[in-house]
Amino acid sequence: MDLAHLEELATERLDAVAADYINRGSADGLTRAANLTAWRRLRLRPHVLRDVSNVQTATTVLGAPVATPVLIAPTAMQRLAAEDGERATARAAARVGTVMVVSMVASCSLEAIAEAAPKAPRWAQMYLLGDRGRTRALAERARDAGYQAIVASVDGAAVPYGDHRGATPPPPGGLGNLVPSEPGRPGALLAAMADFDAGVTPPDLALFREWSGLPVVVKGVLRGDDAVACVEAGASAVAVSNHGGRTVDGCVATGDVLAEVADAVGGRAEVYVDGGIRTGADVLKALALGARAVLVGRPAVWGLAVGGETGVVDVLDAFTRDLARVLAFCGASNLSEVSADLVVPAP
Ligand SMILES: Cc1cc2nc3c(=O)[nH]c(=O)nc-3n(C[C@H](O)[C@H](O)[C@H](O)COP(=O)(O)O)c2cc1C
Repeated sequence: MDLAHLEELATERLDAVAADYINRGSADGLTRAANLTAWRRLRLRPHVLRDVSNVQTATTVLGAPVATPVLIAPTAMQRLAAEDGERATARAAARVGTVMVVSMVASCSLEAIAEAAPKAPRWAQMYLLGDRGRTRALAERARDAGYQAIVASVDGAAVPYGDHRGATPPPPGGLGNLVPSEPGRPGALLAAMADFDAGVTPPDLALFREWSGLPVVVKGVLRGDDAVACVEAGASAVAVSNHGGRTVDGCVATGDVLAEVADAVGGRAEVYVDGGIRTGADVLKALALGARAVLVGRPAVWGLAVGGETGVVDVLDAFTRDLARVLAFCGASNLSEVSADLVVPAP
């Protein structure tokens, strides 16, 4: 899988402002780069002489069976990348047998995305808005449209003020779930983000469960103590994430804190991670450090930009094939055989 080439192709096809918005990290891109480096600094320490004639990548997330531990991260405004936007991504997730996490600032509505792939497992990502009534209405819509979890992103205090230097493109066709939004209005995304509540604390997490009846995944955790607070507040899972290095530059890389978070959670909730995961080896390293699954953000958007639904399928299939190859190399025939001792820091 040559994701660098895919990124180039996507960048050529996309409008320049959209490409910059999708690809960039904040400020000097230190955290975006650190995410990639953190996985590369780890080395595999494989077992040999294990029977790996039948390698399986299937697992479950929050009880839902998935064919691969590579899930699709929530990314805003996917109609920047393809006319069908999130509907194409949802169909791709269904074809591959994985979970799509739908962004709160998706181009398409929660219902339209659900209709595009009714049988696929899908989770709805949300920020708690200052306007609780609007947030509650969205959580109820997600439940009614068959979403199976709410992914509560908790970096909302930082996101609107990301210190990136580029422009934020107007949402093509509007923002499917946030009203008021006018199609194509410049600054519509920034206006929507201005209502993210910067006063969220752990007890607020229960609101998502109360409103939707769905399990809550907390996305944006970077410390063991915070992860414990989320679990104690009732979270079913935490996702270690720094928003792909798009908020405050200089933030720690996710690969560098995953083990701390997984240890602190101690099996009381599922742990996922995203940020800079680009190869099957990166996926295996994340699983060895304690993640149950990983999420990929930009690679899926690049696939969408280059090949629509099929482009996203190709990216996910490539990750999964590569993971199967690395699992075999490490002597693991399934994900339950991935243990911490398969990974060591580079000398
Ligand atoms: C273009 C773009 C838009 C994003 N929009 C959202 C969003 O709406 N909500 C959210 O929680 N995270 C959002 N993220 C962060 C991703 O969910 C994820 O944390 C990150 O992309 C993972 O890093 P990777 O791109 O290196 O795989 C976005 C990321 C990108 C690249």
